[in-house]
Amino acid sequence: MNIVLLGPPGAGKGTLAALLKTELGVPHISTGDIFRSNIKNGTELGKKVQGILASGGLVPDEVTIEMVRGRLKEDDTLKGYILDGFPRTIAQAEALDTMDTIDAVINFVLDDEEVVKRLSGRRLAPSTGRIYHIVSNPPKKEGFDDETGEPLIQRDDDKPEAIRHRLEVYRNETAPLIGYYRNKGNIIDIDASPSPETVLSAVIAALRS
Ligand code: AP5
Repeated sequence: MNIVLLGPPGAGKGTLAALLKTELGVPHISTGDIFRSNIKNGTELGKKVQGILASGGLVPDEVTIEMVRGRLKEDDTLKGYILDGFPRTIAQAEALDTMDTIDAVINFVLDDEEVVKRLSGRRLAPSTGRIYHIVSNPPKKEGFDDETGEPLIQRDDDKPEAIRHRLEVYRNETAPLIGYYRNKGNIIDIDASPSPETVLSAVIAALRS
């Protein structure tokens, strides 16, 4: 099954994907994670996109589309995948239509106030990308990853100015995709405000029906 996760920054797409990939046995492909991994490894792509990610802007479509086209050719996608963070513009959605058939688009519905709370409290384990929240999902020992013990970090784009910019970019560039997929009839709206486990159950029930 080929699934797209759509929704505002911080709505819980990465958190849900980590649970859903185990349920479905398909890979979680996050364009944000791929960019961050390139930045961490100092690749040419990483150097090119570092400033864009820190400011909360979008990486140019042609760069992102070619990266996803390559990723979707890998063998682990043959039984399906969960695409998180792509497409983010109409041009990306149109390009995706030429690559594959999307079975379901999960649209995370969450208000701005909750988005800001989730993003400003998010912390990450840098080596694995494991996601925490200082209030709703804190690590056992404050500031450190439960499994590796490494210090947790805050993403550059989780600072207040970048959060504001990301929300604006979401409204202008990404929200129009809701109408795009509504017209295709494959979008499922999900209330993203309950706990991750409740969101997971709602998504699985919706996918089954
Ligand atoms: P990306 O990494 O995709 O960022 P995003 O879409 O803004 O999403 P986030 O990762 O911020 O949030 P999320 O929805 O995954 O929430 P999470 O589960 O972490 O992209 C980063 C950047 O890369 C972009 O700004 C852009 O520059 C570039 N980029 C990426 N894709 C691109 C594309 N296609 N085109 C162009 N540029 C692109 O949860 C957030 C917090 O909430 C966590 O602390 C978590 O613990 C907590 N939480 C999660 N769920 C719940 C819940 N149910 N209840 C309570 N707390 C919860």
